[in-house]
Amino acid sequence: MTAPVVDIWWADVDEARDEFVQDLDEVERERLAAYVRDVDKARFLLGVTIVRRVLAARFSLPAAKIDLDRTCAECGKPHGKVRAAGVELSVTHSGELVGVAFSDRPVGLDVEQVDPGLDVDALARMALSAGEAQELSGYDGIAKVRAFTTYWTRKEAVLKATGEGLRGDLRAEVPAGIHVQALEVRADHRAALAVVADEPPLVRLHEAAVVLH
Ligand SMILES: CC(C)(COP(=O)(O)OP(=O)(O)OC[C@H]1O[C@@H](n2cnc3c(N)ncnc32)[C@H](O)[C@@H]1OP(=O)(O)O)[C@@H](O)C(=O)NCCC(=O)NCCS
Ligand SMILES: [Zn+2]
Repeated sequence: MTAPVVDIWWADVDEARDEFVQDLDEVERERLAAYVRDVDKARFLLGVTIVRRVLAARFSLPAAKIDLDRTCAECGKPHGKVRAAGVELSVTHSGELVGVAFSDRPVGLDVEQVDPGLDVDALARMALSAGEAQELSGYDGIAKVRAFTTYWTRKEAVLKATGEGLRGDLRAEVPAGIHVQALEVRADHRAALAVVADEPPLVRLHEAAVVLH
């Protein structure tokens, strides 16, 4: 089998523009309206717009004509993993960054801004395996928060690839058949990519500005 290819598009939160709303469907407009903070609206709007414009180019359709399904597997409300026919997707946003991964295999992408106020010790008990907790105990202060955030993005990426979300077991080791890797992003952010595949993926990075302007 050939190695999976993953295309990742990154945008900066300040690239959002009001005109992007034109291409949103009804569900997305409601989701957008429900966010209270402008920065949350901007992150959501950018995620939707990157998905729509990249798929529009790929399928030679107008961005507004791309059918997206956001049905939550748990409750049926439209706040679940975003899905489109013929491609695997994962959307993530935190701090200054919005990212979308596209592949022919199930993918999970996660970015987190490093939060110096995080109660790392409490979270570590809930989220880390014994080996990881041991390794984390070698760090202090902000270095510990950074190290924890790296672990956290890896775990979320895996759970997003499988579609389980945070209902999955965070303390578990990475299951066989899933490749997870850290991605270099900007300072004070950590990111990871997980792909359900037997081989490591070929990762291609893109600037979302190409489709946003
Ligand atoms: C999915 C989840 C891991 C996201 O973590 P996060 O770091 O807060 O947020 P991120 O920005 O990285 O990811 C958000 C994106 O994940 C996607 N997503 C939502 N649920 C998902 C799931 N179960 N699996 C994979 N991806 C999911 C969505 O596309 C969402 O972006 P969008 O709504 O703007 O399109 C977390 O919110 C979660 O586990 N949610 C599900 C919990 C659950 O089961 N809820 C049931 C409610 S009834
Ligand atoms: Zn739900």
